[in-house]
Order: sequence, then structure tokens, then C-alpha cells
Amino acid sequence: TARTRLGELIAAAQRIVPFTGAGISTECGIPDFRSPGGLWTRNAPVYFDEFIASQAARNECWRGRFALDSAFGTARPGRGHHALAALWREGKSPGVITQNIDNLHQASGIDDSCVIELHGNTTYALCLDCDTRFELDWVREQFDASGGEAPACPRCHGFIKSATVSFGQAMPVEAMRRAEQLTLSADLFVAIGSSLVVWPAAGFPLMAQQNGARLVILNRDPTEFDAIADLVIRHDIGDVLAPWVE
Ligand code: OAD
Ligand code: ZN
Repeated sequence: TARTRLGELIAAAQRIVPFTGAGISTECGIPDFRSPGGLWTRNAPVYFDEFIASQAARNECWRGRFALDSAFGTARPGRGHHALAALWREGKSPGVITQNIDNLHQASGIDDSCVIELHGNTTYALCLDCDTRFELDWVREQFDASGGEAPACPRCHGFIKSATVSFGQAMPVEAMRRAEQLTLSADLFVAIGSSLVVWPAAGFPLMAQQNGARLVILNRDPTEFDAIADLVIRHDIGDVLAPWVE
């Protein structure tokens, strides 16, 4: 079966690089983006140029973010996260490349330095001008006290934004460099829970495959890259990966 084949590939591999998307966190109570009920099916994303251009867009962006507090604020790592953490602890995997912004790979015990976040992190905020970090509790206090106005940076008056990468915003240069390095060092690359439609992130599975790594795609729905994968598993992520925790 596909699971047996996955076990064989993992056993044979020296350097496994998991590449994760929102599907690994759905069992943790965080919706993905494009499945029925996904975030982008309920609220359109606020683009970076809109965020920069208007206070109303910044207010709306923060309102939307705080509406997700109940999911992001309480979520704990799931079976997929724990399985990848086990591979990392065993030294089978040098680190995880993730499109996720939920901090759950770090929460599963993988060292911060081994989690490469391509789209940032929504569990804290940054000033877009001076890069000062702000905790969300503080942002929320300011937001609530002003009747729903997104606060400006107390140091430089810059805009404060969740530390995620919005559409139209530059990719984090260092994370991209490290993701490329990890990808080119992989002998087994496992794309987990991603629709693989958002670029440049979606380029990494392709890069790994072209560089000679085995490519596994574990995702409930088909993806554009299934045709070039060595193994495609269209099942529930937690169910498939749970055995690797033992
Ligand atoms: P998507 O919502 O596009 O895709 C998630 C995939 O996970 C879907 O194809 C689901 O079928 C699958 N899935 C969900 N739960 C699953 C489960 N329990 N078992 C197996 N498969 C499951 O999310 P991403 O691919 O992560 O970027 O989205 C990529 C980027 O688009 C995000 O990082 C975000 C978004 O816009 C930015 O905001 C910049
Ligand atoms: Zn500032």
C-alpha cells in the first residue's frame, strides 16, 4: 500500500525535508485556505498595497486577525506535527519548510532555527518600518481601546502588521535562501497538506524533484505536481503520519 511505500522511502532516506501547508493544521482546529469553509472562501485576503494605503484596510485586517484568535490562540500541535518532530529528533530530517503561520512546528519541539517560515508567523506583530516586535495582546488592547483602530508604532509611527507575508508583500529573503539550501540537500522531499498553488513556495517541491530527490505528496485533494511525484497519498495527514511517532 501507499503507507508501506512511504515507510520504505522514509527508512531509506538520509535527509528528509518536509514541506508543509495548512492541511497539517486542520485537525488542530485551524481552517485551511481553499477547502470548503477555508479562510479565503469566507474572507478575501487584504493585499499588502491596500494595507499600506488605508487606515480602513489596516483596521479590517486586524479585525479579521482577532476574529481568528480562538483558533490560532489555543491550537496545539497535531499528529502530523508530532511525527515530523520525531523525524527531526532522530536526525532523519534537518528541518521543516512551512507555508504555515501558526507556530505549531515550533510548538511540537522542533528548534526555531530548524523551522523555515516562508509566509511568516501570525502569533506576533512587527512594525513595518523599524521592525520592532509587538505581542498580539498589546495590539489588541490598543485596538479595543480606540474602538477598532489599528495602532501605529509608538517608536516610529510606522504601521504595525501581523508578522505574516501578505499577497503583494516581498518574500523573506533569508527564509527563501535557507529553504533553497534545505531543498537542494534533500534526498526525500515530502509535501504535506498544501494545494501547491501559491508561488514561489510551490517551486520547492519541483526544485527538489529536479535535483534528484524522491518526491512524496501527501494531500487529501489532487495537486498540479502529482504527476511528477514518486508517491501520492490522498488520505488524512494525521492518520497517515501517526504511525511515525512510535
Ligand atoms: P490550501 O488551503 O490552499 O491547501 C490545503 C490543502 O490541504 C488542501 O488541498 C486540502 O485538501 C488539504 N488538507 C486539509 N486538511 C487535510 C487533512 N486533514 N489531511 C490531508 N489533507 C488535508 O493551503 P496552503 O497550500 O497551505 O499564504 O496555502 C498556501 C498559501 O496560500 C498559504 O500559506 C497562504 C495562502 O494564501 C499566504 O497567505 C501568503
Ligand atoms: Zn516602528
